[in-house]
Amino acid sequence: MNALLPRPVAFETSTGSFELSPGAPVAGPADLAGAVRLALSTLDLRPAAAGEAGAVTVEHDASLGHEAYTLTVTGQGVRISAGDRQGAFYAGQTLRQLLPDAAFRAAPGESWSVPGVTVKDAPRLAWRGVHLDVARHFLPKREVLRMIDLMAVHKLNRLHLHLVDDQGWRVESRAYPRLHEVGSHRPRTIVGHHEDDPVYDGVPHGGYYTLDDLAEIGGYARARAVTVVPEIDVPGHACAILAAYPELDARATGGRTPEPFTVLDRWGISTAILSPLPPTVEFLTVVIDEILGALGETPYVHIGGDECVLDDWAASPEIVAFQAELGLENVGDLHAWFLRRLADVLAERGSRAVVWDEAFVSGTLRPDTIVMPWRGPGVAQRAAQAGHDVVQTPVFPLYFDYAEVASEEEPLAIGETITVGDVLAYEPVPSSWPDAQRERVIGAQFQLWSERLPDARALDYRAWPRGCALAEIAWSGAPGADFDTRLERHLRRLDALGVEYRPLSGPRPWQLGGTGPRRHRPGFVNAEDVMKRLEGMTHAADSTRPSM
Ligand code: ACM
Repeated sequence: MNALLPRPVAFETSTGSFELSPGAPVAGPADLAGAVRLALSTLDLRPAAAGEAGAVTVEHDASLGHEAYTLTVTGQGVRISAGDRQGAFYAGQTLRQLLPDAAFRAAPGESWSVPGVTVKDAPRLAWRGVHLDVARHFLPKREVLRMIDLMAVHKLNRLHLHLVDDQGWRVESRAYPRLHEVGSHRPRTIVGHHEDDPVYDGVPHGGYYTLDDLAEIGGYARARAVTVVPEIDVPGHACAILAAYPELDARATGGRTPEPFTVLDRWGISTAILSPLPPTVEFLTVVIDEILGALGETPYVHIGGDECVLDDWAASPEIVAFQAELGLENVGDLHAWFLRRLADVLAERGSRAVVWDEAFVSGTLRPDTIVMPWRGPGVAQRAAQAGHDVVQTPVFPLYFDYAEVASEEEPLAIGETITVGDVLAYEPVPSSWPDAQRERVIGAQFQLWSERLPDARALDYRAWPRGCALAEIAWSGAPGADFDTRLERHLRRLDALGVEYRPLSGPRPWQLGGTGPRRHRPGFVNAEDVMKRLEGMTHAADSTRPSM
């Protein structure tokens, strides 16, 4: 049976099988053959010597598009055609799924029999994304690399790293070292349910990636067909930046010296906002250059724009005067101008800006800015209609920090429920939209906001198997009727990889919410209700709920 996940475009079995022995030769152009070997690294395949026939033969086929491939297994060997390196890598990933589950272990197995098949495959959507919030809880570099490996298994190709928020700044800056020295840690973190009186854990939390780490992450990802999309979320969510550089505070304009912000130790939206005046743009340009310099080719940079409380802009005579000088009518327009300014900086460096949908709602963006509509299909369609490329990121059903089941047995989540079935039923490219708008949907992405995801074990539990479902709809389109059967088999691959996913039957004993602060409390926040409420919001600042 075809147990491939995500489902390929076409799959046919044929008679016979091929024994792919460890250390077997791979023939073909070095970059394509290298990509296949990397995807199958457990087998320790080697490059074929000059003139030597390959057990696996890879060839370039210019008629195949980006990421597309064909894979044929017969009794004689494995043949792969690919249009590019990414396609060859994905052919290797498919071949790995045709092998016994032991191909997903780090120590090689013994028998590597591949059934006779012909697979033709290409992705439906170009952007198949995973968003990691490494700001609320830092995720060590090794876990980011592991997520890239898991993305590769699922043919997911954009890693959106949310590198800054009120609760932490997560990357070294040689130009502005206080960002990582001061902004990367907090002395304690709030725990428990948001309705309770606040309780803090008294445990310091922090961490950041050095620029060398970032270079490593970028290179590791690129080799595995994943593009890293760094996010510097501005001008709001600014406590950590302002703890380090209080002079960028909107309240500090005009020579004022307000009480500085500290790195936030609780959740919710803060009022902290950067000044939009030229020194902030200059500061961010230097930081962006450091990040781009480390990551290497970075076609997309996310600049945030969400949940900004603009009151401190409106209250600053200098900022209001600046707005008037630019001929802008209100601070909302200034918010869009500020992000447009940063998008221009990025464009000069060959990168496109990505923003959350508030930035689109605020005013005019650069036309090539990509919009992530987290507040639902209404704003998504308006952005597409305005000509922006759109990556679908709606709270329901793509915020995977929501629980799968409304039960006290679950670990604490912001709300509930988003199930595997909800993700499978989601159509990122609505059939009701006119073609010109449908064409603007370049992808879909799941979000792992980490307020309640303290570590990689908690992250695994929320990411999978819902992430498998996202991979299916983004790569394949409507899921096949056999998805459930394929998923059951696929979970054995994740077992072999050591992924601590949420079993389909519910949490394992040690994954339960328990009786302490980790216990989920259902009935407070429903993901679909949140989506409906957010849908009604037409202004940028509508999504803000100041909590400090
Ligand atoms: C968001 O959830 N603030 C993008």
